[in-house]
Amino acid sequence: MLKFATILLCVCLFRGVIGQSISSGKCPQVKVQDNFDIEKYVGRWYEQERLFFAFELDQKCVTAEYTLQQDGSVQVNNTGYVKLERKFSTSLGNAKAEDPKVPAKLGVKFFPEQPRGDYWVLSTDYTSYTVIWSCGPITGVDANIQLGWILTRESAGLSASKMAEIHALLDGFGIDVNKYKTTEQNCNES
Ligand SMILES: *[C@@H]1O[C@H](CO)[C@@H](O)[C@H](O)[C@H]1NC(C)=O
Repeated sequence: MLKFATILLCVCLFRGVIGQSISSGKCPQVKVQDNFDIEKYVGRWYEQERLFFAFELDQKCVTAEYTLQQDGSVQVNNTGYVKLERKFSTSLGNAKAEDPKVPAKLGVKFFPEQPRGDYWVLSTDYTSYTVIWSCGPITGVDANIQLGWILTRESAGLSASKMAEIHALLDGFGIDVNKYKTTEQNCNES
């Protein structure tokens, strides 16, 4: 699974928007959204929080636009303002459920030859928030690589109480919510 780590790292350095974190032990046992409906899920989302990764390029105003394709897969358009470069950067990818019986477990890739990385929807109400999770073991060591995002339909995000509910959900799976960092969404001056 070292490959998994390398690929994630490459995607990470390339995109600069992925949150990623290395933790000891096995991946947390998570539960995904029941009866996930991709048609209600597509459209625009704003990144509110991501699992912090020290080496990621600093981006703000990160959005994800998901567009349903004719083959049932989803076009992914991740766009963010790279503070260091003072310009917006876009990465286009493709997501689809690898097992149609578990539609909330999507796989996403940003290069054609790349194996799909996990994009699991743990919880969404389709109209205000979504909680995305990805985790893979690292062979040879007792550790795993975690990626996580909380996206919202409104750039202004969620109420503190709703955010606390989402953090409680993650905490219940044994995910360290203290590693989640807020993504700036103040984009008027950029
Ligand atoms: C991706 O999203 C950005 C920001 O919304 C937009 O400017 C760009 O045209 C989109 N690219 C594609 C190929 O849809």
